[in-house]
Amino acid sequence: MSKALTVRPPSPYQPPWADVCIIGIAGSSGSGKSTLSHAIVSQLNLPWVVILSMDSFYKTLDEESSRKAFRNEYDFDSPSAIDFDVLVQRLRDLKAGRRAEIPIYSFAKHAREKETTSIYSPHVLILEGIFALYDQRVLELLDMKIFCEADADTCLSRRILRDVAERGRDIEGCIKQWFAFVKPNFEQYVEPQRKVADIIVPRGVENRVAITMVIQYIERKLIQKSQSHRAALKKLGQSSEDD
Ligand code: CTP
Repeated sequence: MSKALTVRPPSPYQPPWADVCIIGIAGSSGSGKSTLSHAIVSQLNLPWVVILSMDSFYKTLDEESSRKAFRNEYDFDSPSAIDFDVLVQRLRDLKAGRRAEIPIYSFAKHAREKETTSIYSPHVLILEGIFALYDQRVLELLDMKIFCEADADTCLSRRILRDVAERGRDIEGCIKQWFAFVKPNFEQYVEPQRKVADIIVPRGVENRVAITMVIQYIERKLIQKSQSHRAALKKLGQSSEDD
């Protein structure tokens, strides 16, 4: 039989840029998820580590909801505010080694910017957001699940300082939103994610021991992935010699 007509089984080869290692970090607003993510990135000492904030996946608001948002009367702390379908699609694309277009979110405008940003082939992706461990489809894609913990008063004071300085808010509005939506939804939806976490990190970025454990785990995962990549390449080489 001619070689060109031989039906081959699917290749065992996986390109090195596929199967990105995805770390999920959930926790209350103001618990320090972003700072913890940056600490992990700086200590990992790898060129291709990307932080993906779930804020990019807030749904677009209609006019009425947008007016509510500017009055601090819109609930951004319920899972229904997040477009999980698009998030899952983007994560699946990245996991398969494909490029993903990520929306850019403006907290000051309560809306997505026109521009998007592209993510392509990271070795490690950190997904951080209040609902990073919420959706079953996302959980199935995660290599490690972290819950970042801080006292509620620490979270509230951090949030007020940040929202006023960086997100175009005033103090009264921050407090109104906290008691109307952030606090009750934390209890209902955010806190229960502790149960599915692999590790719970109290004191966030101050917790050097936890960060070291996370780094060691990611490094081990990457070694395993590169070993299986090399084994697949070797197997592929042998099977082409056999042909
Ligand atoms: N939010 C808002 N206005 C919007 C969209 C979201 O006020 N238009 C708020 C929601 O109320 C939600 C919070 O943004 O509670 C999510 O961001 P947060 O977790 O506070 O920020 P991160 O930097 O991701 O996390 P951390 O504070 O833990 O570093």
